[in-house]
Amino acid sequence: MSDQFIFRLLATDGDARRGEISMPRGTIRTPAFMPVGTAATVKAMYMDQVRDLGADIILGNTYHLMLRPGAERMARLGGLHAFARWPYPILTDSGGFQVMSLADLRKITEKGVTFRSHVDGQVFEMSPERSIEIQGLLGSDIQMQLDECIALPAEDAEIERAMELSLRWAERCKSAFGDQPGKAMFGIVQGGDKPHLRERSAQALAAMDLKGYAVGGLAVGEPQAVMLEMLEATCPVLPVGKPRYLMGVGTPDDILQSVARGIDMFDCVMPTRAGRHGLAYTRRGKINLKNARHAEDMRPLDEESDCPAARDYSRAYLHHLVKAGESLAGMLLTWNNLAYYQSLMQDIRNAIEAGRFAKRSAEIRAAWEEGDI
Ligand code: GUN
Repeated sequence: MSDQFIFRLLATDGDARRGEISMPRGTIRTPAFMPVGTAATVKAMYMDQVRDLGADIILGNTYHLMLRPGAERMARLGGLHAFARWPYPILTDSGGFQVMSLADLRKITEKGVTFRSHVDGQVFEMSPERSIEIQGLLGSDIQMQLDECIALPAEDAEIERAMELSLRWAERCKSAFGDQPGKAMFGIVQGGDKPHLRERSAQALAAMDLKGYAVGGLAVGEPQAVMLEMLEATCPVLPVGKPRYLMGVGTPDDILQSVARGIDMFDCVMPTRAGRHGLAYTRRGKINLKNARHAEDMRPLDEESDCPAARDYSRAYLHHLVKAGESLAGMLLTWNNLAYYQSLMQDIRNAIEAGRFAKRSAEIRAAWEEGDI
């Protein structure tokens, strides 16, 4: 822990990086996976469980929390950490991305974004300054700039316009954030599927000397090869000594491939959402517990896992819970999935430290393909 926000690079292996972010609420071991806690809860999990699995940081969403319970109310209640009983670092997304995917009647201008709440229809205006103000009221440790993420495919001119707007908003967010030594505000690289726009965005953000950098606008429907090509255009332009966060990604394979290209942080709803839909991630690949072939399978999901959800419950029982629509199905499968994701990150960190990341990555991938399911 540190009273300042400090990123240290501890080891590299090819372009893969093993690092550590120290800040007042804790130390984040990177590469890190941040469980998604959109509405002040990592769905179907107790915070104690999330911590015990090895999460150093979770993600919260400005958009959801400003609508419910409200940013000023959250501040009066003592902030998100106390409210949700998670005293460790929290990163909040800025709201732009969620407005575009969830809100009604969205309008983007130079000033900011206007939208109608999907909860009660109320109209809100959010400028870059207001997004940073809200993230401050929530008590967020790592705040994200307001940006515009467009869906792909899109016209070049449209991609460029949104990227340039995001750069101007980054400057405004930087000014609004000011100097807060124990906290950080990250810029977000945009530029769609155009390497030259990604490069330009990354260069301009690097020149702003922010405390960290995110890569946004990916995993929005493009093939994985395109996403990786964008990382190859972006990462070399970003400063070596600052953390790099790939937003909203991804599958275990996306994570391995992105770490290999220099990414340090990830978040994704996949392990939590899939868990609530009957899907288990394991060392040996994905298991769809809805499938009737599990009805009399007494094996656990993974007999070698440290996680009780993976080790102690039969696939037959999990199948039954999923089929019966029982809440415990989502609880156990989310627990299993987050345990798998955190163990994957630990495996990755160990491999980078030992200088055998590429080899370990190939072994992990081979085990998924081998399967036993
Ligand atoms: N989450 C996933 N992608 C993005 C993005 O491009 N911008 C923001 N703010 N959040 C994201």
